Amino acid sequence: MSLRIAFLYNVRHHYPDPNDLRNQAETDSDDPATIEEMIRHLRGCGYDVLPIEANEDCYPQLLANRSRIDLAFNYAEGLHGLDRECHIPAMLEMLEIPYTGSAPLTQALVLNKARTKDILRAHGVPVLPQVVLRSADEVDQVRLDFPLIVKPLSQGSSAGITNRSVVRTPEELHAQVASVIEALGPAVMVEPFLTGREFSVGMLGNPPLVLPPIEPDHKRLPDGYEKIDSLEVKWVLEESSEMDNYLLCPAPLDEAMLARVQEVCRATWDALGIRDVCRVDLRCDAAGNPYVLEVNSPAGLLPPAISQTSYLPLAARTAGISYDELLTRIIQAAWTRVHP
Ligand SMILES: Nc1ncnc2c1ncn2[C@@H]1O[C@H](COP(=O)(O)OP(=O)(O)OP(=O)(O)O)[C@@H](O)[C@H]1O
Ligand SMILES: [Mg+2]
Repeated sequence: MSLRIAFLYNVRHHYPDPNDLRNQAETDSDDPATIEEMIRHLRGCGYDVLPIEANEDCYPQLLANRSRIDLAFNYAEGLHGLDRECHIPAMLEMLEIPYTGSAPLTQALVLNKARTKDILRAHGVPVLPQVVLRSADEVDQVRLDFPLIVKPLSQGSSAGITNRSVVRTPEELHAQVASVIEALGPAVMVEPFLTGREFSVGMLGNPPLVLPPIEPDHKRLPDGYEKIDSLEVKWVLEESSEMDNYLLCPAPLDEAMLARVQEVCRATWDALGIRDVCRVDLRCDAAGNPYVLEVNSPAGLLPPAISQTSYLPLAARTAGISYDELLTRIIQAAWTRVHP
């Protein structure tokens, strides 16, 4: 008999707009066509799928169906608050419904880029220093050398990260902090801007298989673009055909560098208590030393018919793991963790 999987997801109502910071609050969620296609794939893998939108009405649906659900596939980003990614895992814990991905503590942690780095730093994982600000009036607390990058404290999918995020003067810093807090509030994180290579690394299973790193080839960005995976780059340029092969996968790394990246990713997984699946984003300084920027859980899983550049499916494909096999392996990782 096939497993009955409750598929938990959030939907967004607009495509992310690089010129409208407020509209970017929903960037982490997926459009309805993506969700439909994911459900189609899950059914194609042979699961009996019960889709549940992870909105305010989801708890009664989970409660009513708990005895019929074998496992929940948690793809929910959450709706409100700085800890939104832990809400669904917390409900599932309360209802004793097993689920894919990390537990509430880890999910709350990884959405907060500063707290994530505090934990990683304490475990000896290389991370950059940071300052968290709740108002532009606090910018004099920033004692880091320019250039700096200003990021929302608790967003993903490059929401709030645009060409204006890299700042080189106190005036630019002040203006950017003010506009990001106003649009996406309530806090931003300021950290040194690194100019070295960038890698995004998918991890799958317990203990995790480290998938081939993806490297955005920043040299190929048109003039006028900061060398970052900003919202403009991730949601507009990467999807355009002129930028074919902008994402290098596997990233061209020598053996020693690949081993170093894998070591840092495994240490990150252990320090944060990640389970089943995640994606770690890293960037190097000018000397080539990697630093963890952030961890994505749940990591984006856009099906191939919707996007060819969704990072985790792309890395899996490079490793010979099809989209359907990726979904199956995430489910199997959770299932065998719960039923050893
Ligand atoms: N300290 C930094 N130095 C240089 N570039 C950075 C730094 N922090 C972020 N970036 C750039 O900005 C991009 C987005 O940053 P980050 O990964 O923190 O945001 P995100 O919105 O959570 O991303 P995701 O889409 O992976 O959820 C990175 O991919 C990188 O190109
Ligand atoms: Mg990232």
